[in-house]
Amino acid sequence: MQEIAEQCRVFASDDLVADLSNLLTQYPQQAVFLLADEGSFAACADILKSIPHFDACRTIVIAQGDDNKNIDTVARVWQFLSDNGATRKSVLVNLGGGMPCDLGGFCASTFKRGIDFVNIPTTILAQVDASLGGKTGFNLGSLKNEIGVFSVAKAVVISPVFLKTLNHENFLSGFAEMLKHGLIADADYYNRLIAFDTFEPDYDKLHGLVCESIKIKNRVVEADPKENGLRKALNFGHTFGHAFETLQMRRHTPILHGYAVAYGMMCELIMSRNLRNLDPHFCEQACVDMSLLYGPLQVSEDDIDELVELMHHDKKNDGRGINFSLIPQAGQVEVNIVVERSEIEKALRDFLVINFS
Ligand code: GLY
Repeated sequence: MQEIAEQCRVFASDDLVADLSNLLTQYPQQAVFLLADEGSFAACADILKSIPHFDACRTIVIAQGDDNKNIDTVARVWQFLSDNGATRKSVLVNLGGGMPCDLGGFCASTFKRGIDFVNIPTTILAQVDASLGGKTGFNLGSLKNEIGVFSVAKAVVISPVFLKTLNHENFLSGFAEMLKHGLIADADYYNRLIAFDTFEPDYDKLHGLVCESIKIKNRVVEADPKENGLRKALNFGHTFGHAFETLQMRRHTPILHGYAVAYGMMCELIMSRNLRNLDPHFCEQACVDMSLLYGPLQVSEDDIDELVELMHHDKKNDGRGINFSLIPQAGQVEVNIVVERSEIEKALRDFLVINFS
């Protein structure tokens, strides 16, 4: 197992069984607890079966989906740990996508004032973003990740074996966060991602690209672990993206997070062109490429007021107005840009033209 991102303690494993067995030898067998959501448990837990520490380990399977990322599930996990004799020397292993890693990381970080946790992310989204960097937490009603703590996992173990378990939509959802890493930090990496065959992925190549994304995120987190400045770069595409995500959730036609981020990046590329002189040809090509990958979003002119209203509530704002991270050119980012409502509406209108063309 090779450490590929020191700050975020990410290890790339090419032999998951051997590497996890080694990692867990530092804990007594009865100290290991496994948390997974239903979907990940069904799809991925078998891969872990031959690891001695998971043989008889106490396992909690939580309901899947963002709706269940709430205080009731957190309380269930705390109770489970308590009822089953977890101590400060225990370790909680979180298996799955962003939801179990975020929620499990929070439960571990607060149980008995904090026990170790290890993340085994099974989706691209979790491998390149959600499982690393120390953000843990859960939703408060419709407010996403409103409650949480910064707490870095003891280890995040990345294995290519899980990537083959993903359907095309979940594949693309995670891929959007990888495109984001290219756009904010490395134009050459972005171009290689755009050229990647997403319909018939070469999984070895994909694992290499995932590792590149992890290194980009690690560099950003290292420079600004608590998101006082530079880490806001990782929010590129997310101001519009979260508004799209919430709008679709309210309408009971939810979209995957990465899809919302992809549509959000298209809006923020347009805004970068309008306000930060991003090359118009690059902007247009990137929007076309993303709309080919992600298809149209069900949104219209009539939704603009509600979307702007939702953006006002985004927790990334600091009271001065709506806050964006924009890219003056591919591979560069500027944070803390407060944008007027008229510019937001303009970007949305331009996006709608591309979205329906
Ligand atoms: N998901 C963005 C961050 O970790 O800061």
